[in-house]
Amino acid sequence: MSRIVLGVAGGIAAYKSCQLLRLFAEAGQDVTVVPTQNALKFVGRATWEALSGKPVAPDVWEHTWAVPHVSIGREVELVVIAPATADLLARAAMGRADDLLTNVLLTATCPVVMAPAMHTEMWNNAATQANVATLRSRGIVVIEPAVGRLTGPDSGPGRLPEPEEIQSIALTVLRSPAAAQALAARDLVGKKVVVSAGGTHEALDPVRFLGNSSSGKMGVAIARQARQRGAAVRLVAANLQVPAPSGVQVVPVVSTGELANAMSKHSDDADIVIMAAAPADFTPVEPSQTKLKKSGKAGLTLELKQTTDVLAQLAETAPTGQVVVGFAAETAASRDDLLDLGRAKLARKGCQLLVLNDVTAGAVFGEDSNDVLIIGASGEPIAAQGSKDLVANAILDAAARLTS
Ligand code: CTP
Repeated sequence: MSRIVLGVAGGIAAYKSCQLLRLFAEAGQDVTVVPTQNALKFVGRATWEALSGKPVAPDVWEHTWAVPHVSIGREVELVVIAPATADLLARAAMGRADDLLTNVLLTATCPVVMAPAMHTEMWNNAATQANVATLRSRGIVVIEPAVGRLTGPDSGPGRLPEPEEIQSIALTVLRSPAAAQALAARDLVGKKVVVSAGGTHEALDPVRFLGNSSSGKMGVAIARQARQRGAAVRLVAANLQVPAPSGVQVVPVVSTGELANAMSKHSDDADIVIMAAAPADFTPVEPSQTKLKKSGKAGLTLELKQTTDVLAQLAETAPTGQVVVGFAAETAASRDDLLDLGRAKLARKGCQLLVLNDVTAGAVFGEDSNDVLIIGASGEPIAAQGSKDLVANAILDAAARLTS
């Protein structure tokens, strides 16, 4: 259990933070809510107190016996501010201490994550952008706002990302100082990343398909983290079972054939291409145009042909300097066996990096965490384990090191 402060500034998106608070509480975190006075105009104190199970106060003049303006910041392991309004970003950048939340920011030495939400004009304003740059230069992770419907009928960048997305980023920052640093420094600004995710469906007839149980969580985590590190991200999404992250361009595909076409079309000018999808290796030679009927048949034999090896094709046609990353799930008796299988596959596929999973104890499909070895043509294998967001950052670190 970690001690988290959830700061809430005065924006309409404060209502979404009730859900964020629930997600943290369900994950077993100990959360203290510190709203601003204006936040309480949107969501009242009773809601925050009931959901967190703790007293809540917006200013330094309540519970003074506990010296809250210093004690809260000293004891906390992570501060998350959602929503962070333009005014809150400005006050934080200036180092002001005019309410309890800004006092907490000045006393806390732990990582800080801010999720801004405001109208597009306010987000794009030079003053706000300068404040965001100042905060990031101090190591604060400022999450890119989502693009979409704002409070009124208008839409654009400025929406608060979904609570699940904020939670994934916040927990990544809490668990990995290296990831926190990469997210604050936005080391992938100017880079283009194309990532595939999910499992393909090969049609047998108009209503049936051959598929696999890949949820798409690993590829989605890579897309989310790459975008938050500043990259322009395209996600080639095959039948995802989880929502795509905000701010990435999604190219939906169904079959391995469509996946192959989309990857080759969009990866031309990419710096990093990551094949996290699980494409079907075989597809029906001739899918039936009409629904297959069972009457009169005791069984059914399908004739299948091999699909394109998308990863091998991408590696073969990659422009100079592009880093192509593949995945391999293997069953191995030992770590050495796993590495041997991985090195053989790395050479066969021709990619620069391979993310190796030992699935002897069962597949990782649908899980929230992963345990991998990242291998390249040279150098020691890099071990990464934990949430898929943490593993995603390790993969991006390894790929970024190989780009010029
Ligand atoms: N892959 C691909 N195209 C396919 C099948 C797999 O691009 N038709 C990619 C996957 O996205 C993954 C990598 O290849 O990044 C490794 O997949 P895997 O199934 O382990 O490779 P295979 O070549 O099918 O090897 P094996 O015979 O061991 O299954």
